[in-house]
Amino acid sequence: MIRKLCVIGAGTMGAGIAQVAAENGINVVIRDVETAFVERGIGTIRNFIGKKLEKGKISQDVHDQIVGRVRGTTSPEEGFAGVDMVVEAVFESLELKQKIFAEADRLCKPSVILSSNTSTMSITKIASATSHPERVIGTHFFSPVPVMRLVEVIRGEKTTEAVVSSAVEFCKTIGKTAILCKDVPGFIVNRFLCLLYNEAANQIHQGMATAQDIDLGLKLGSNHPMGPVEIMDLAGVDVVYNALKALHEMTGEERYRPSPLFAEMVRENRLGRKTGRGFYTYEA
Ligand SMILES: NC(=O)c1ccc[n+]([C@@H]2O[C@H](COP(=O)([O-])OP(=O)(O)OC[C@H]3O[C@@H](n4cnc5c(N)ncnc54)[C@H](O)[C@@H]3O)[C@@H](O)[C@H]2O)c1
Repeated sequence: MIRKLCVIGAGTMGAGIAQVAAENGINVVIRDVETAFVERGIGTIRNFIGKKLEKGKISQDVHDQIVGRVRGTTSPEEGFAGVDMVVEAVFESLELKQKIFAEADRLCKPSVILSSNTSTMSITKIASATSHPERVIGTHFFSPVPVMRLVEVIRGEKTTEAVVSSAVEFCKTIGKTAILCKDVPGFIVNRFLCLLYNEAANQIHQGMATAQDIDLGLKLGSNHPMGPVEIMDLAGVDVVYNALKALHEMTGEERYRPSPLFAEMVRENRLGRKTGRGFYTYEA
C-alpha cells in the first residue's frame, strides 16, 4: 500500500498527480530543482483545493488535511525519505529521466516503486539506468490530472507482477482507472489520438474538409465531447506536431508521418489558443 509518495517535477503533471494523491489520503513530497518551481506547483494545488472549499464541495477540515499532506523540497534525500513510491514527471528527455531514476535507485530502498509519467519514452530504457529494473514501471496520467480518469500502466521488460499490481492498486486508491499497456511507442491512447489529429490536419491541408465540419462531424456523428481540431488548438499545435514526429520516428510507420500543415503552422506561430491563432482564431 502506498502511504507516502514522492513526485519529481512540480509542473503541470507533477502538481496534478500530487493533488489527487493528497486528496486520497496519501502524504506527498513534491521535488523540483528550484524552490520557486516547488512553490508554484504547491500553489497550483492550493488554488484548486481552495476553489473546492469556496464552492462548498469540501469542508474546511478536509481542505486543511489535504493541504497538510503536501510538502515540497529541492533535496533528493529529503524527497525520498520514507516514501513507498516515486512518480517522475520531469521534462520529456531520456537522458534526464535516466539520471533521475539512477539517483532514485541509489537513494531508495529496493521495495520502493519507481514510476515514470513519460508519454513517449520506453520504460525498459528508463529502467536500464537502475540496478533494480524490476521495480520500474510507467504510470501515464492524462491532463488535466484531477479531471481525467485514466492511467496507462506500462510494464517494462523486467517489471515484476507485484509491482504492476501495486501500481494498479495505487491508481484505484487515487480514484483512477488503470489499463495495462505494453512498452510500445504511444502506449494505447496516444496511438489512436495521434492518428485522429493527423487525419484532421491532412483533410484540412488537402481541402477535403473545414476545421468546423470535422469538429462538428465527430461531435455530432460520433459523440466526441470535443472535436479533434479544437483539442489540437487547446493542447498546442506544436505539442501535437512533436508527438506525431516522435511516434513516426519510433514506429517508422507512414500513418504517423505528420501532415505538412503542422510544420507550416509552427513556422507561422499558429500554435493554437496560446498564440491566439491555430486552426481557429481566438480573441485576445
Ligand atoms: N502535459 C501533458 O499533457 C502530459 C500528459 C501526459 C504525460 N506528460 C509527461 O509528463 C512529464 C512532465 O510533463 P509536464 O507537462 O508536467 O512538464 P512541465 O514542463 O510542466 O514540468 C516539468 C517540471 O520538471 C521539473 N524538472 C526538470 N528537471 C528536474 C529535475 N532534475 N529534478 C526535479 N524536477 C525537474 C521542471 O522544473 C518542471 O517544473 C513529461 O514526461 C511529459 O511527456 C505530459
